[in-house]
Amino acid sequence: MEAFDPNLCRTERDVESKLLVHYLLPQLGYGVDSWYEEVALGSIRLDFLVLATSLLAGRLAPPAAVVMEAKRPQSNLDPHVPKLRRYLTALGIRYGLLTNAWEIRVYETQSPQAIAEVFRCGGQHLHTHLEDLRQLIGKSSPNLGLPIPVVPSPRRIPMKTIAVYHNKGGVGKTTTVTNLGAALARQGFRVLLIDLDSQANTTFATGLMKFADEEDDILANNNVYHAIAEKFQFQIAEVARRASYCAAPVDVMPAHINLIQQERILQDKSFAKTRLLEKLNKAKDSYDFVIIDCPPSLNLYAQVALTMTDYLIIPSDLKPFANEGLRNVRNFIDENDEFRGVIQRPPISVLGVLPSKIMTNAKFVENTLPRVEEKVRSKYGFPMLESRIFDRVDLGKCLNVENNEGEVPVPDPQSIFDFAPDSAAAKEFGALAAEILQKVGAMP
Ligand SMILES: Nc1ncnc2c1ncn2[C@@H]1O[C@H](COP(=O)(O)OP(=O)(O)OP(=O)(O)O)[C@@H](O)[C@H]1O
Ligand SMILES: [Mg+2]
Repeated sequence: MEAFDPNLCRTERDVESKLLVHYLLPQLGYGVDSWYEEVALGSIRLDFLVLATSLLAGRLAPPAAVVMEAKRPQSNLDPHVPKLRRYLTALGIRYGLLTNAWEIRVYETQSPQAIAEVFRCGGQHLHTHLEDLRQLIGKSSPNLGLPIPVVPSPRRIPMKTIAVYHNKGGVGKTTTVTNLGAALARQGFRVLLIDLDSQANTTFATGLMKFADEEDDILANNNVYHAIAEKFQFQIAEVARRASYCAAPVDVMPAHINLIQQERILQDKSFAKTRLLEKLNKAKDSYDFVIIDCPPSLNLYAQVALTMTDYLIIPSDLKPFANEGLRNVRNFIDENDEFRGVIQRPPISVLGVLPSKIMTNAKFVENTLPRVEEKVRSKYGFPMLESRIFDRVDLGKCLNVENNEGEVPVPDPQSIFDFAPDSAAAKEFGALAAEILQKVGAMP
C-alpha cells in the first residue's frame, strides 16, 4: 500500500480531503455513500459522520458509526479531546477519530461519560497500521455496533465532608479538590465542592467562570459568602451550581474575590464559623461527598472549613518549606479542635498528608521520598497517604482548555479524567479516590 505523506497537507481542508476522503475512508472500506461531511445534529457539528450500516437498514441503535474530526496540520490535538468526548457521549457513538495529518488517534467511548484513547500512530506510518485500524473502525468491524457500557449505578452513603488544607500556597489543594471530586462523581457518588478561597480557583477550574466581563459576573451576588452571612436565604441548593468541567455531575458552591473584604463583616459574628455547617446538615441527603477547598491561610474561611469538615487531606510538595508549614497546620488543627469541642463536634480526622507535585526523578522517588515521608510521620505526627500525585504537565493543561465555538474563546477547563483519561495523572487521582473511599469506609 502506498504510504500517506502528511507533508501534502497544508490546511485543515487538506487534512479532510487528502487524508480522510482520498486515503483513509476508502482504505477502511467506506464508499462515498457511507460518509457525510459537516453534519449538524442539534448543537453539534461534526466534520465527518461515517456510517458502517446504511441508514435504511434501520440498525442504528446503537449507531454503527464513526465520528472523524480533522484539525490543522500539526496542531496540538489534546485540547480537542474534550469536544470529541462531548460529541461521542452525546450521540452515543462508540468510536471517534481525531487527526492533524501528522498524528492519527482513535478514541473509544467507555462509559456514558468517558472516552479513552485506543489507537495512535504517526501520519507517515499510517500505511503500516491500516489493518489495525480496519479491525477497529473499518466498515466491517464488529466493534462499531457494540453497546456502550452502562452508567455506574448511583452509590448512596451518609454524607462525608473532606477539607483539603495546607497554609502554604500552590501545593495542589485546588487540583486535589477538583480532581478527587471528579473521580468520586465518576463512580456514581453525588459530589458537592465548596470553594472557600477568595482566589476562586476551584470556581474557575470547574467551569463556573465563563464570563470575560465584570458586568457578566453572575457569582458576585450569590456565592459561599452569602451562604455564611444570611440565615434564611442562600441555602446550599440555591448557591450550588452544576459544574461543566466533568462529564459526571458535580455541584460547586462558588467563591469570589469579594470574600477578602467581606471577611471583615463576618469577623466577629458568632454564627460565622457554624452557619455553613448548619446549612449543610439540612442538605445531608443530597450529597455523598462534600469536598472543601481552603485558602492558603489561617483566616476565617479556613476556620469555617475546619469547623465543618469530618476529614482532612493535607497536600504537600514535601519540600523543606512546606514541611516546616506542617507545624502550623498541626497548631491550626489543634485550635480548631478546641472550638469543635465547644460545639460538641469530634476532633478532625486527618486522613493524611498527600504527596503532591512530586518530582518524577527516579532517584528522588526511590531514595529521598521515602525518607521525607517518614519524617512527616515521626516529626509532625501526621499519617501519610499511600497515593502520590506527581508533577504532571497535564494537570496544568486541562485548566487552559478553551471553547472556540462562539465568537470569542471562552475558558472551558476540564477535569484530568475528561482531558486526558489515560494519563498518569488520571491514574494517580483514581488511586487517590480508591484510597479515600477505603479510609472513610465507603468501599462497597
Ligand atoms: N501534580 C501537579 N503537577 C503539575 N502541576 C500541578 C500539580 N498540582 C498542581 N499543579 C499546578 O500548580 C499550581 C498550583 O496548584 P493548586 O492551585 O492546585 O495549588 P493550591 O494549593 O490550591 O494553591 P493556593 O494555595 O494558591 O490555593 C497550578 O497551576 C496547578 O495547575
Ligand atoms: Mg487553591
